[in-house]
Amino acid sequence: MLGNFSYHNPTKLYFGEDSLNYLKDEFKNYGENVLLIYGGGSIKKSGLYDEITAILKDSGKNVAELSGVMPNPTLEKLYEGIKIARENNSELILAVGGGSVCDYAKAVSVSVNCDDDPWQKYYIRFEEPDCKIIPVGCVLTMAGTGSEMNGGAVITNHETKLKIGHVFGDEVMPKFSILNPKYTMTLPKYQMAAGIYDIMNHICEQYFSGEDDNTSDYISEALMKSLIHASRIANKNPQDYEARSNIMWTATWALNTLVAKGKTTDWMVHMLGQAVGAYTDATHGMTLAAVSLPYYRFIMPYGLKKFVRFATEVWNVNPDGKTDEQIAEEGLAAMENWMKELELVMKISELGATDEMIDGIADGTLIMDGGYKVLTRDEIVQILKESM
Ligand code: NZQ
Ligand code: ZN
Repeated sequence: MLGNFSYHNPTKLYFGEDSLNYLKDEFKNYGENVLLIYGGGSIKKSGLYDEITAILKDSGKNVAELSGVMPNPTLEKLYEGIKIARENNSELILAVGGGSVCDYAKAVSVSVNCDDDPWQKYYIRFEEPDCKIIPVGCVLTMAGTGSEMNGGAVITNHETKLKIGHVFGDEVMPKFSILNPKYTMTLPKYQMAAGIYDIMNHICEQYFSGEDDNTSDYISEALMKSLIHASRIANKNPQDYEARSNIMWTATWALNTLVAKGKTTDWMVHMLGQAVGAYTDATHGMTLAAVSLPYYRFIMPYGLKKFVRFATEVWNVNPDGKTDEQIAEEGLAAMENWMKELELVMKISELGATDEMIDGIADGTLIMDGGYKVLTRDEIVQILKESM
């Protein structure tokens, strides 16, 4: 049942090859002090850094820079960002990069004026911000997380070996995001593929729950079909602008709260993947790919009808003369073949996980309800072992 809900997504998007032209207009809405945040240097290589700093200069902004935001941003780095934002009295945070940079900018934005320790407040106690939040704008260079239009901010605490996401509300979502598919074309193929699987899994996480005939499920199927189609083109020719555009747009809609409407969700592939990530620091999308099939094959009997629908609607499996179990398994086999086409990592051992880590990873996996089966710790260990 769709039930009762309100829907409001405050992020303004500018999409396409000309989208950076709107940055100057957006700057008019914010104060003079801008904190420019980026990652390990890909934007310097691509020339985007020069373009953006020229627009900042042209707009008369005082710019402070914070670079070196790593994939899977750490708590230590968050403390550094809070300090720099405070010292510079930042009035707008401009995140230029992938999901890590956008997530990180949001985490800084809710922490600058917060007296509490952000890890304890947001990632252990899951409290909402009660301080002034610095507005965030994004220029996205990697498609995958949906961070450009959602409130998610995932932070890794290496000391406690926990990788945790807080999904903040409307007030923390980026005020604007610039999505130019061209920027994603300099991504290494490994990252492109990881992003594509991240998108697929975001949709699956919201699709595999309930047995309703829900509008969200139909939207999800369309998004998955578009993604599979575009990914096959981009995999052969990463410079195909149309395919990269469709991937980027699908990523945004896969995780901007729309397809979660009327659904309960447990996000268990992400809970498993994040726990693997906390131990291995592996690329997010690859951690998901490596645990997905053992997880889905495990829960399939509990949500069989939906897995049958997934097989026939998304993967065009012909159901004639087959049992529900056979149809459902053929759907997962089709997904597995597609994952192999994309050369995704299919084993957590290939991401650095060892047998000795399994217990710790299981302890770090948050067990959620809302899906087809609330997993026990033993079942988590079993899925992790099958993912080795
Ligand atoms: O740091 P730079 O030099 O920019 O290099 C990055 C990084 O090494 C590189 N890259 C990005 N754009 C590029 C590029 N290289 C060349 N050309 C470009 N155009 O790619 C590498 C990975 O970037 P990263 O931002 O880490 O990837 P992604 O976008 O997948 O973000 C991953 C983070 O987002 C979190 C993940 O847990 C992880 O920490 N997530 C956030 C979510 C959300 N906000 O809702 C949900 C997701 O499920 C996810 O958990
Ligand atoms: Zn994800």
